Amino acid sequence: MITGSPFIAGDACLLFDVKGRRYLIELIPGRSFHSHRGALPHDEIIGSPEGASLKTTSGTFLTVVRPRLADYVLKMSRGANVLYPKDAAALMVWADIGPGMTVLEAGTGSGGLTMMLARAVGPTGRVVSVERRSDHATLARSRIAGFFGDVPDWVDLRVGEVVDMVEEVGPERIVLDLPEPWEVVEAAAEHLPGGGGFACYVPNVPQVETVRAAIAETGTFIEVSTFEVMMRDWSVNGRSVRPSHRMVGHTGFITVARKVLDR
Ligand SMILES: C[S@@+](CC[C@H](N)C(=O)[O-])C[C@H]1O[C@@H](n2cnc3c(N)ncnc32)[C@H](O)[C@@H]1O
Repeated sequence: MITGSPFIAGDACLLFDVKGRRYLIELIPGRSFHSHRGALPHDEIIGSPEGASLKTTSGTFLTVVRPRLADYVLKMSRGANVLYPKDAAALMVWADIGPGMTVLEAGTGSGGLTMMLARAVGPTGRVVSVERRSDHATLARSRIAGFFGDVPDWVDLRVGEVVDMVEEVGPERIVLDLPEPWEVVEAAAEHLPGGGGFACYVPNVPQVETVRAAIAETGTFIEVSTFEVMMRDWSVNGRSVRPSHRMVGHTGFITVARKVLDR
């Protein structure tokens, strides 16, 4: 998709009203978007360039853009809680996810992190994403297709237990957002290549303690670190420039580690 190009049917579209309120829709011919500021037929958005402002039936304007991936993930309807973009961004850097890599991810959940991984590894890479609940896997498939137009060829969505797939997939990176990541540590120690990465996200301190103990127990990981990410938005309004009154106070802890060969 080229930035700025006209919308086509099936695109995800983010609408902004004059107050900055945002609405995420999928463009379907014949449908209309309705708000207290009037209606806007999808057919008027289809064919309009990204960034255009279009008049509703009540005469106010809505500006239309394609959602950034972070907007899409936060706004899409979902089953499982998504990993917040601030955490996904840091995880992507410190787990060192890059083009061409093979990544094993679990659980797929709503597919939020899967989409970020898919973008990061690109068409020369591979993301195998595993989800134990088939209802979550089905929803994630449709959310991923809603953003990319279809599930990318290099994304393999599977239903099952992640620990059963480590050996067969042979990943360079393992990325986990699930409640018991320690259950995967032994398989990661056995099957990751030297220099390969293990990363997990958990919301509670006892989970951090348990996964760190499991990592230490293997004796085969270095550069093990646990951190959290705080992002504070600022309000900039004339001469009033200050941190926002509200922020997301806690999400979770990220742990990363690198596999080495026997020492
Ligand atoms: C918090 S959600 C993941 C959200 C996802 N990262 C996102 O951004 O949309 C956790 C998911 O892990 C799944 N899960 C838990 N343990 C699992 C396991 N051992 N193997 C595969 N999936 C698992 C759960 O069913 C749930 O859907």
